[in-house]
Amino acid sequence: MAVTFPKGFYWGGATAANQIEGAWDQDGRGPSVDDHFLGGSITTPRMITRDIDPARFYPNHDGIDFYHRYKEDIALFAEMGFNMFRLSISWSRIFPNGDDEKPNEAGLAFYDNVFDELAKYGIEPLVTLSHYEMPYHLVEKYNGWESRELIGLFERYCKTVFERYQHKVRYWLTFNEINCGTMDMGNLFETSMIQGFEGPASASHTTMQQRYQALHHQFVASARVVRYAHEHYPQFKMGNMDCFILSYPGTCDPADQMACLSEMRRVNWYCSDVQVRGAYPSYAKRFWRENGIELKIEDGDLDDLAAGTIDFYTFSYYMSGLVSTHEMQQVEGNMSEAGRNPYLKSTDWGWQIDPEGLRIALNQIYDRYQIPMMVVENGMGALDEVVVENGEERIHDQYRIDYLRSHVRAIGEAVDDGVDLMGYTWWGPIDLVSAGTGEMRKRYGFIYVDKHDDGTGTYERRRKDSFFAYQKIIKSNGAEGL
Ligand code: BG6
Repeated sequence: MAVTFPKGFYWGGATAANQIEGAWDQDGRGPSVDDHFLGGSITTPRMITRDIDPARFYPNHDGIDFYHRYKEDIALFAEMGFNMFRLSISWSRIFPNGDDEKPNEAGLAFYDNVFDELAKYGIEPLVTLSHYEMPYHLVEKYNGWESRELIGLFERYCKTVFERYQHKVRYWLTFNEINCGTMDMGNLFETSMIQGFEGPASASHTTMQQRYQALHHQFVASARVVRYAHEHYPQFKMGNMDCFILSYPGTCDPADQMACLSEMRRVNWYCSDVQVRGAYPSYAKRFWRENGIELKIEDGDLDDLAAGTIDFYTFSYYMSGLVSTHEMQQVEGNMSEAGRNPYLKSTDWGWQIDPEGLRIALNQIYDRYQIPMMVVENGMGALDEVVVENGEERIHDQYRIDYLRSHVRAIGEAVDDGVDLMGYTWWGPIDLVSAGTGEMRKRYGFIYVDKHDDGTGTYERRRKDSFFAYQKIIKSNGAEGL
C-alpha cells in the first residue's frame, strides 16, 4: 500500500549553528563551548582545551562557512523542495559572554538575513534556542547548567530573540536532545559542566547529582520560556527535543523486560514526561533515591513546570539498541553505547540501522502523549567517495538513499497507524562538522561540502545522488520515490 502523508506536511533538513556557521569570532561573536573542542574520530575522542591555541585546528571555528554561504545553501534546500529548515541560534552570537548587558546587533542581524532568505522560498524556520552550546564564559564562571544563574540568563537571551524574530519564526525548540544531559558523555554537550576542564571529551566529568540538578535548572528555564512565549506571542508553537534511543529487551527473561522499561524511562521518558506533562513522573522519586540524587527544588519551580508545558513533541532518531541483564556485546551509538542486535546492520560508525524502530518509537511516543510530533533529526553518517565522470564530480550515495527511503516509509506507516506527525527534517541535509567526533568525513548531507578533517578544501558544494532522491520524495509529498 502506498504511504500517504498529510497535506502541508513539513519536509526539510536540520542543522546546528556550531556545526555549520563558522565565523566563530566574527562580527562580535564570543567563543562558544564547542570552539574549545579539537577534532577526533571513532577511535580518538575529541580533546577539550581551556585556552584556544592558535596553532591547533578546531573544526567548529569554520564549520562549513554557512555564515557567508547561507544564500547558496538555502537556494539548494529550496531546489530540493524544503518547506522547513531547522537551525539553531548561536547564543554567543547574540550575547557574546552570556551575561552581557546588551545583545550584539550584528549577531541579531545575521539571523534576520537568514530568516528573510528562507521566507523568499517559502521555507518555514524551526529554531532551536540551545543546540549543544553556550557562551564559554558561562562554562568558566558558572560551570554551565550546574548553576541556577543560567536560568535567568537563558530567559533573557530567549526574550531577546523572541522579540526580534516574532514576525519571522513560529516554531521553536528550547533545548536540543535535553535527555542527553542524563548521560555522562551527552551532558558534556548538553549542560556543559566542564569548568576548568582540559582533556578527552570521553572522560567522566560529572556525578549523577550534578547532572540531574542541571537538568532541573533546564526544565525550569524551558518551562518559563515556554510560558512567556504563550503569554506574549500566541502565534508561537513551542516544542521540546529529545534524543530517542529505542531499547529492546535483549532476551525474553522478565528481568530484561524490567531492565528495558527502566532504561526507556531513564533515557527517553524522564525529560519529556516533565516537559509534556508539567510534573516529574511517578517513578522519579525511587530513581533519585536509589541513585543518591537530592534535587534542590525552589519554591515556585514546580508551578513553573506545570505552567510551561510544550505544544509539540520533537525528537532525533538514529538507532536502537538492546538492554539486558545478561552479558551482551556492545556497539557504538549516539552519545552512548548499546547492546548489539543481530538482526540489524550498522553504519560505518557502528550505529544500528533500524527503520522499523522509528515506527515503533513514533507509536510509543504518541500513545503516551497524544500531542503533535515531528521527527527533527534522522540521518546516516557515512564515508562518501567523489568520483569523476565525464569531467563532473559525482557522489553515488545509494546507502544514504536506502536509509532515507526506509525511514520515510516507516514514518508513513506510523502516520497510517494514527500518529499525528507534522514533519520530518533530515539531520545534516548538507555535510557538516560531526558533534560527536568533530569529523567532516562522517558525512550526512545530500549536499557534499569539499572540506576535510584537517580543514583543507574549497568548501564548494555538490549535489549527491541522494539530493535528487529526497527531491523526488518531497515533490510528490511521499507518494513517489520510496
Ligand atoms: C545528534 C545531535 O545527537 O546527533 C547533532 O543533535 C549531531 O548535533 C547528530 O550532529 C549526529 O551525531 P554526530 O556525532 O554523528 O555528529
